[in-house]
Amino acid sequence: MAVRARAHVYSMQPYRAGKPIEQLRQELGLTELVRLSSNENPLGASPRAKEAILQHLDRVHLYPDGSCTLLRRALSEFYNLPPDYFLCGNGSDELIHLFGVAYLEPGDELVMAHPSFVRYEASAQLNQAVLRKVPLTPDWRHDLPAMAQAITERTKLVYIANPNNPTGTIVYRAELEAFLQRVPNHVLVVLDEAYFEYVDHPDYPDGLDYVRAGANVVVFRTFSKAYGLAGLRIGYAVGRPELLDPVERVRAPFNVNTLAQVAAAAALHDRAHVERTRQLNRAGLNYLQAACEQMGLRVIPSYANFLLIEVGCQSTQIQQRLLQRGFLVHAGEAFGMPTFLRVNTGLPEQNERFIQALREALYA
Ligand SMILES: Cc1ncc(COP(=O)(O)O)c(C=O)c1O
Repeated sequence: MAVRARAHVYSMQPYRAGKPIEQLRQELGLTELVRLSSNENPLGASPRAKEAILQHLDRVHLYPDGSCTLLRRALSEFYNLPPDYFLCGNGSDELIHLFGVAYLEPGDELVMAHPSFVRYEASAQLNQAVLRKVPLTPDWRHDLPAMAQAITERTKLVYIANPNNPTGTIVYRAELEAFLQRVPNHVLVVLDEAYFEYVDHPDYPDGLDYVRAGANVVVFRTFSKAYGLAGLRIGYAVGRPELLDPVERVRAPFNVNTLAQVAAAAALHDRAHVERTRQLNRAGLNYLQAACEQMGLRVIPSYANFLLIEVGCQSTQIQQRLLQRGFLVHAGEAFGMPTFLRVNTGLPEQNERFIQALREALYA
């Protein structure tokens, strides 16, 4: 008899990673290929993070600190919460995976918006949980009243990406608080704030307020976006220790590598780099939005570091034309919005060249 993995694993789709960017560039015969599809930081990492990495290069033969002690202490001081309120992961992707493994029994339910971040779905599937996907509102925001209604006695986890990926929309403080009031005690609400640092809206809630207030809320944040450390893979969960404890039990002992730990601690303190990132992004969003609207294209106003642009036809076609012109962007077909492109902000001259390429791609 042939070797078989767990039966339901065969119904899962493997993550389809794109080709390495350098290989793609060579295959297309381009001198430059700009990736605007992965919501990365065009400024790169903080110089202080790079310095910390160099200082620790001669320690890579040693296992990392399995408890991320120094980083959790730095986070603790930064947020004024005890160190045991923090759990670090190999990117927040790993946290999504680990919370599923720790919390979901077969038949439990996971509530999420649709479209939202696809990895929540994979974590439900892996653990044979039932997915309750609640469509976004007509203005592309989480429909929190409908999500509250989707909660049953079998619901274990609710994921709210705030801002949402792929739409870049946010939930406001008042509606989140009304939602949390309705959530029963057996449900853990995860506020995935991967793009927290980019948001500039007076009604945007800080998820840590609810952690501090003792709600059944865990907040995920990451060093991949505003801190520019996506390649090192490091994110963190913030929550009451008893909510993190099950995840501590299932995680691998050395899940976060040494260079990620020291770079993250250094990056956390480089507020000037985060501020530059934020300003560059805001200017980039304004520019891209205005330029698209001038071309008669609708965009969904975004609070993250990316923008959804409606191109009025199958966006995969436009995506291909943009690729030939040196820009890699995300087509919306993957998340059920086939006429949209998701584009993250680049450096100013990249944004300008992108708009030029988009104009050519649309009217080619
Ligand atoms: C909403 C959301 N959550 C989590 C992640 C994963 O981030 P990380 O790089 O920390 O794994 C992303 C990445 O794009 C995201 O958009």
